[in-house]
Amino acid sequence: MAPPLLSPLSTLLLSWVFLSVQSQSSTSAITTILLPRSNNRFSVTDYGAIGDGNHYDTQSIQAAIDDCSVAGGGLVRFPGGNYLTATIYLRSRVVLEIEKGATILGGTSLSDYPRESRKWYVVLAENATDVGITGGGVIDGQGLEFIERVDPRKNVMVSWNSTGDCYGDECRPRLVGFIDCRNVKVWDVRLTDPAYWCLHIVRCQNTSIHDVSIYGDFNTPNNDGIDIEDSNNTFITRCNIDTGDDAICPKTSTAPLFNLTVTDSWIRTKSCAIKIGSASWFNFEGLTFDNITIVDSHRGLGFQIRDGGNVIGITFSNIKISTRYYDPSWWGRAEPIYVTSCPRDLNSKVGSISDLLFVNVSAVSENGIFLSGCKGGLLSNLKFINVNLTYRRWTTFMDGLIDYRPGCRGLVNHSIAGIVMEHIKGLEIENMNMRWSDGHTRQWNNPLDFMPSTVNDISLLNFHSGL
Ligand SMILES: *[C@@H]1O[C@H](CO)[C@@H](O)[C@H](O)[C@H]1NC(C)=O
Ligand SMILES: *[C@@H]1O[C@H](CO)[C@@H](O)[C@H](O)[C@H]1NC(C)=O
Ligand SMILES: *[C@@H]1O[C@H](CO)[C@@H](O)[C@H](O)[C@H]1NC(C)=O
Ligand SMILES: *[C@@H]1O[C@H](CO)[C@@H](O)[C@H](O)[C@H]1NC(C)=O
Ligand SMILES: *[C@@H]1O[C@H](CO)[C@@H](O)[C@H](O)[C@H]1NC(C)=O
Ligand SMILES: *[C@@H]1O[C@H](CO)[C@@H](O)[C@H](O)[C@H]1NC(C)=O
Ligand SMILES: *[C@@H]1O[C@H](CO)[C@@H](O)[C@H](O)[C@H]1NC(C)=O
Ligand SMILES: *[C@@H]1O[C@H](CO)[C@@H](O)[C@H](O)[C@H]1NC(C)=O
Ligand SMILES: *[C@@H]1O[C@H](CO)[C@@H](O)[C@H](O)[C@H]1NC(C)=O
Repeated sequence: MAPPLLSPLSTLLLSWVFLSVQSQSSTSAITTILLPRSNNRFSVTDYGAIGDGNHYDTQSIQAAIDDCSVAGGGLVRFPGGNYLTATIYLRSRVVLEIEKGATILGGTSLSDYPRESRKWYVVLAENATDVGITGGGVIDGQGLEFIERVDPRKNVMVSWNSTGDCYGDECRPRLVGFIDCRNVKVWDVRLTDPAYWCLHIVRCQNTSIHDVSIYGDFNTPNNDGIDIEDSNNTFITRCNIDTGDDAICPKTSTAPLFNLTVTDSWIRTKSCAIKIGSASWFNFEGLTFDNITIVDSHRGLGFQIRDGGNVIGITFSNIKISTRYYDPSWWGRAEPIYVTSCPRDLNSKVGSISDLLFVNVSAVSENGIFLSGCKGGLLSNLKFINVNLTYRRWTTFMDGLIDYRPGCRGLVNHSIAGIVMEHIKGLEIENMNMRWSDGHTRQWNNPLDFMPSTVNDISLLNFHSGL
């Protein structure tokens, strides 16, 4: 059955005027972070590291790092081997050079980590300048050792919440953290199997992450790829992220986030591939995503704005997406694009989202796009240019729910549609092609589904929907 082109709606205003579109050239001018050059090289084996994977090499590694920093900086080398370690602290002007064939293995007992849970990382740089990690080797969090019970839907993980320093079931160590750092560079390294978040950038200025591959178990919760929090000028390129939880996740908790650029990357996740929020206390401004391929993910490009911060000026260009349903215990409803703002709870403030551009996007997905502002938290000035959407069901998970989580209205029954829209002011669609290849199984009621009286200033140019 061919869905009707448009459902009749009082608030819909079609203007078939030509839109002037700035052909935005991809803004992927990657600022190169230059670390100071130094010929100093300190090998952890010279400091007694054994690298047999059984014996802890923590003290040798730390001594090499400390001496390197005191000597003015340089490289701390890890020759081939498996270096089991408790938390190691990266110092200013030190770059870890984990060579091909070398692996830093994070410890799996609570005693391997410092007292405060906020410092639970295998590698932690705090308040450091000119720091980096490279070398072609691996940092491995041994996350599988933190599985309390294997569950094919979602593993149940150990929680170190009995320490009292953190609550709930999310008390596990992260893999690599840079907190309050300047000039950070992570490149040519593989980060694998974190017990919790993988690479965490907090309140940093000038960070470059390139040619990094991240792997997390697909059934393990909270093993996010890269979490960028309250940081400015972050550049991510040529990364490959394959993990269970959110892959690239900008958040604001204590300060705004400016200038994040992500290009030329590949993502697979059982959650959201690019997720802005949900921690969103301060503004997000100047984020650019270009040339990204998202495969078999539970959600593609997502905004969960819940705490009062605003989002201003985000561009997504040249993005290929495929999204599908997974077990509902994982967040996501197979939406290729999901833009929501609503107050998390009764005490939360409302944030708005404005000036989003989606250009050259193609998606194959089991659900439509969801664009949902709220009273006092409008979505404004959204543009979709050159967008191909193919809708099809191929898994047997239930559909017909729209998802306001976390908080807000939770899950709400609603028939599936090409784009569901509410509380929007200013939406331009130019060159959109919706294809429906799902005649027999399910009913997609509308290509465009406007919640009554909440969507204004719509312009459609060359919009097509059909089988
Ligand atoms: C979108 O794709 C077209 C055709 O491939 C290309 O000419 C244009 O530069 C692209 N736009 C952006 C913003 O990348
Ligand atoms: C951070 O580093 C700077 C410069 O080295 C120092 O002055 C400052 O006290 C440090 N702050 C903290 C919280 O360690
Ligand atoms: C501690 O974590 C476990 C899950 O591992 C959870 O069942 C329990 O409720 C948590 N306890 C507290 C006090 O947060
Ligand atoms: C990022 O820039 C904003 C605006 O200038 C500033 O308020 C914030 O402190 C900066 N963040 C960091 C980590 O420097
Ligand atoms: C960040 O990089 C820019 C451009 O290279 C430079 O001007 C600025 O001083 C750097 N900021 C910090 C805090 O190092
Ligand atoms: C963000 O980038 C712009 C353009 O490069 C620059 O002018 C601005 O200072 C940057 N913002 C921050 C907070 O670093
Ligand atoms: C897009 O990114 C991929 C890596 O994911 C790269 O191979 C390709 O060359 C990039 N395309 C462009 C046009 O830069
Ligand atoms: C959309 O499909 C048309 C027709 O197949 C194609 O010419 C165009 O390049 C596609 N655009 C994108 C962004 O994939
Ligand atoms: C959705 O509707 C079904 C019945 O069709 C009902 O069982 C279910 O509880 C409803 N879910 C929600 C979230 O309202």
